[in-house]
Order: sequence, then C-alpha cells, then structure tokens
Amino acid sequence: MTMLAAHPPQHPAVLETLLAEYRARTTGSATAFRRSAAVLPGGETRNVTYYPPYPVILAEGHGSRLLDVDGTEYLDLVNNYTSLVHGNAYPPAMAAAAAVLTSGAVFPSPHELQLELAELLAARIPSVQRVRFTNSGTEASVLAARLAQRATGRGRLLLFDGAYHGSAPPLLADGPEVVTVPYNDIDAVREALTEDIAAVFAEPFLGAGGVIPGRPEFLRAVAELARERGALFVLDEVQSLRNSVGGEQTRLGLHPDLTVMGKVIGGGMPIGAIGGSEELLRLTAATTDGGLAHSGTFNGHLTAAAAGTVTLRHLDAPAIDRLDRAAHRLADAITAAAVRVGIPATVTRAGSILNVHFTPTAPVDAEQARATASTPLLGALHLALLLDGVYTTPRGMINLSTALDTDSLDRAAQAYANAFQRMAEMEVTP
Ligand SMILES: Cc1ncc(COP(=O)(O)O)c(C=O)c1O
Repeated sequence: MTMLAAHPPQHPAVLETLLAEYRARTTGSATAFRRSAAVLPGGETRNVTYYPPYPVILAEGHGSRLLDVDGTEYLDLVNNYTSLVHGNAYPPAMAAAAAVLTSGAVFPSPHELQLELAELLAARIPSVQRVRFTNSGTEASVLAARLAQRATGRGRLLLFDGAYHGSAPPLLADGPEVVTVPYNDIDAVREALTEDIAAVFAEPFLGAGGVIPGRPEFLRAVAELARERGALFVLDEVQSLRNSVGGEQTRLGLHPDLTVMGKVIGGGMPIGAIGGSEELLRLTAATTDGGLAHSGTFNGHLTAAAAGTVTLRHLDAPAIDRLDRAAHRLADAITAAAVRVGIPATVTRAGSILNVHFTPTAPVDAEQARATASTPLLGALHLALLLDGVYTTPRGMINLSTALDTDSLDRAAQAYANAFQRMAEMEVTP
C-alpha cells in the first residue's frame, strides 16, 4: 500500500526550459529553502509538499489566492490538501479562532466549544452518536484501530492498496498487523477477511491514492462482509466529509461502526476525531473499566473547535452542490483541453476533489493509478501551472474551495489548456 509518488519523474527537456524559468521566478524561495534545508531535513516538515528543485515558499493566503516570498500570486487549487474548504484565512473561521485566543485556547477540562462541534458532527452524520477528538487525522485513525482491536479482541487490520489513513503505525502498508487488498475488488476482500481481522478501513474514494471513487456496491458489500465476519467497518472520511453534509456515508447508504474525521472539521486548525455508537465510543471514556488509555494535551483544541464549527455551518448542502458542479465543469474542461492537443488524460473526481491522470481511461485501483503516475507529464504539468500562477499538487490532485469564483475557475481551466499546449509544443511524452 503506497500513495502516489509525491514528486513524479521529470522529463529532461522540461527540466531545461521549465526549471530555468521556475528558478528565475523564485529566487526568494530558493534562498528561503536553502536556509530551511539547513535545519529541517529535506527543507520541509511534510514529505508530500516537497517537489524538485525546491517548493515555492508561501508567505500568505487569502481566500483563493496564495502569495509567495517573491511576491508572486497563485490561484490556490490545493487548499492545504483539501482542509481549507472555504479558502485561506476564511474570515468567519479566523474570527472565531481569534476570539478564543484572547480568552484561553486550551484548558485541562471540557469546554462548550468542543461540545458544540461534537453536537454538530453528531447531528450531521447519522452513524455518529459520540465523538472523541484528537489532534490530527493520523491520530484519529490510530485511535480507531486501537478501539477496533480492543472491541473485537483481534489484532489485524484490512486496508486497501493505495489507501492513506495517516503516517503512523499500525496503519502503514508494511506494518506487521496489516493485510492489504486491491480497492474495488470484493473477491479479494472476501478471501482476506479472516477471523483475526479486527477492522476493515476504507475510504469512500482512494484520496492520496489518486482520487479513485469506490463503487457504491463494492463499499456496501465490504461493510456487509465485515459485519458477517465480526470485524468493524471503519470509514475514513478525513477527506470526504467536505463532499456531503452527512459525509459520503449518507450518499452511499453506509452505516460504519466508526468514522474517522479531520481536515475540514477544524476549519484550518489541527484536529482529528472519531465518531460512532455510544456502545463503542464508551471504550474511550475514563469512566469505563478496562477502557483504552487515550489522552492528548491539545485534544479538541479550542481554536480548531471554534473555527471548525463555523466552517461546517457554512458548508451546507447548497454550498456543497455549488462546489460539486464547479468541480464537474473543471474536470470536463481539463480533459477536453488535453484531448484537443493530443495528450491522453482523464480526470477522476470525488465531489470537489479531482486528480489528473495521463491515461485515456480512469484507473480503478491503486496499481493502475501508480502506473500512470510515473509519467514525466505530471511533473511538467505541475511546473507549467505554477509558472502560469496556478498552485496544484505534484501528483495531479486538486480541489476546490468556496472562495473560487467563476472567473477564477475559468482562469484555472485556461491555465490547464495553456500548460497542455506548452507540453505538446515541447513534445513531452508519456
Ligand atoms: C483519508 C485520510 N485519512 C487520514 C489522513 C491523515 O490526516 P492528518 O494529515 O490530519 O494526520 C489523511 C491526510 O491526508 C487522509 O487523506
């Protein structure tokens, strides 16, 4: 189980032209990155945000715009990897967080703002009766795994190839407790779901694995099989909660035992959470004999609780619908622009999250996505877009925020058309 390569290979011809332009445009970033690399290994604190020769160093973000240290503006199609659903420094969320900062942002006792967010999550997501907060999606996944192991008395976890549930054991592909099977392959699940599996972890779509939607009947069959065989069905909605008021589980007709949450629920601040039935979540309570030891100095940090509550309230069904329609249009425009210049490309999409793949047909599992991700076209596209003032991810994933207006979306589509045109002229090939 591996995610897509964070920084795909570069084409030699592209290296000469695009990289020369990039270096000339980002001298301030180069200087800042050298300083950074002297103290942060690889110049970064997140593997996924690095790309060669060095990433632009960002200084500010406002709505749909990012500004780098050289003063160059970019249209933001990354939104801190899907977490900023209303764009950068969303004023209502930042005002809520700022209000907390002057009256105490963290206490060694529960606070009404935590209750408000927990109540909101429980009201929105049918399978969530109780909520437990953590500081990140990674921590929430780890807690879900521990809870499943305790509740079932079993040790192993079934994950999907290409899934990402965070960067900590036991949810790593090569972990001793992990069994991995291909996504969208129910026969493989049937075979691997033995009596020692504590939980099946599934994303509604492979997010970091290439934005590959799960077939609804596949996900429902996985949940059913898990139940039949005494394992918990854990749905990781860390990315997908932005796509539906009640999470993708409502759209798919799923009722997971546990839901893993993060990103948008913190409104731009660090957070994670698990949700589920009263019976299961009781195992995390201090008052439960034989329960799990679960603490965290900053669990349910009030800046995240306050910003997250406002963010979710503003992420209502009409807002999600607008994001969905805009994403659909952009996906079509990107595909059409590539086809016009003879570059084979498909855009996979899950709500407002998209991924460009340089292949004429959409990949349905991680192996197919990885095969297409090794092309130099991805690196060329990323650089060409940056040089045209559009900030995307090296692996081809983009996502929308409500801060993007129609003009910005048209500009994004035009930037893709320009980039493909440049790539075609430079004869960058798969
Ligand atoms: C589906 C999914 N689960 C879990 C995580 C981990 O969340 P965090 O980065 O907050 O630790 C991520 C992060 O990208 C994710 O996409």
